[in-house]
Amino acid sequence: MTVVGPLGLSVRDQALEAEVQAGLTAVEEGLLEATKSEVSFITEAAQHLVHAGGKRFRPLIVMLSAQFGDPFAPGVVPAAVVVELTHLATLYHDDVMDEADVRRGVDSANSRWGNSVAVLTGDFLFARASHILADLGPEAVRIQAEAFERLVTGQILETAGPRDGRDPVEHYLDVLAGKTGSLIAVSGRLGAMMAGADETVVDILTQYGERLGIAFQLADDVLDIASDSGESGKTPGTDLREGIPTLPVLRLRERVRRLGLADDVALSELLDSDLSDDARLREALDRLRAHPSLEHARRDTLRYAEAARAVLAPLPDCAAKNTLLDLCDAVVHRAG
Ligand code: IPE
Ligand code: IPE
Ligand code: MG
Ligand code: MG
Repeated sequence: MTVVGPLGLSVRDQALEAEVQAGLTAVEEGLLEATKSEVSFITEAAQHLVHAGGKRFRPLIVMLSAQFGDPFAPGVVPAAVVVELTHLATLYHDDVMDEADVRRGVDSANSRWGNSVAVLTGDFLFARASHILADLGPEAVRIQAEAFERLVTGQILETAGPRDGRDPVEHYLDVLAGKTGSLIAVSGRLGAMMAGADETVVDILTQYGERLGIAFQLADDVLDIASDSGESGKTPGTDLREGIPTLPVLRLRERVRRLGLADDVALSELLDSDLSDDARLREALDRLRAHPSLEHARRDTLRYAEAARAVLAPLPDCAAKNTLLDLCDAVVHRAG
């Protein structure tokens, strides 16, 4: 039993473990190759977050999904490189949007070189992803384009907030499906598709990725409150400071409307206030960590992970399926 990557996922089948590791090693080479430019400064900026680490969660989904066809088919590793490059590009952009100083345990690109370089490096990474995609055929290009549109729409809807009268939790879940579910769904889809899996299997792994992606982002939003930066490689409380209401905050607001308890009202007001001051942010984090709304959000996260699990039921029993099932637990119980 060996552990793959920072998710602490155990792959119980040795042959599968070896194949997945070999695939992920090839993905690392592909990422370094795809982030090289003739301009050395661009290489430095583009490789900054590649070298910093990251879980390589999306390439892992590609590799596991490819097990339902020929995992050695030539499109599998490039597909994994494409999804990780796309993800990486969105991180460069997201840190500009969120004014985040730390990513993957190092200075964010915006904090090191400023917003312009961070945005343009993200664009450079998208360009390189598109270049690799072109060789995977028009269907892959279309799938990626549609996912990218959903991802960007999710980020924009998060920034815009719910329109009048819209349920904030429904809005939030739509945002999550768009900004995170879309690309993880593509990881399952392209992995299976490039390996030549049956269409029904491709559909199942697409649905699985979508739901797992939502659970993954829900867990990330809980971790923004519950984890410390040593575990996550990010600054805790970034969502709170930016005034982005994630599920624990939305559950608290619901509770305020339902029960109107004085302590809840006070915490909700604190969360709505200016949290740019470190001491106030610290207080908000401490109080939210001890609040039942955080537990409520954790239970919601488990429900989505269960939904991802359920989608896999029709797949034949095999080591890859078991690992995808285990991944549902790993995602919601991760520390960073
Ligand atoms: C961070 O993604 C952004 C989210 C969608 C939550 P990851 O948690 O996969 O980040 P890395 O790749 O491990 O740094
Ligand atoms: C990021 O969402 C989603 C994308 C990058 C598309 P978050 O803002 O929650 O992610 P982190 O917490 O910065 O990684
Ligand atoms: Mg962010
Ligand atoms: Mg964000």
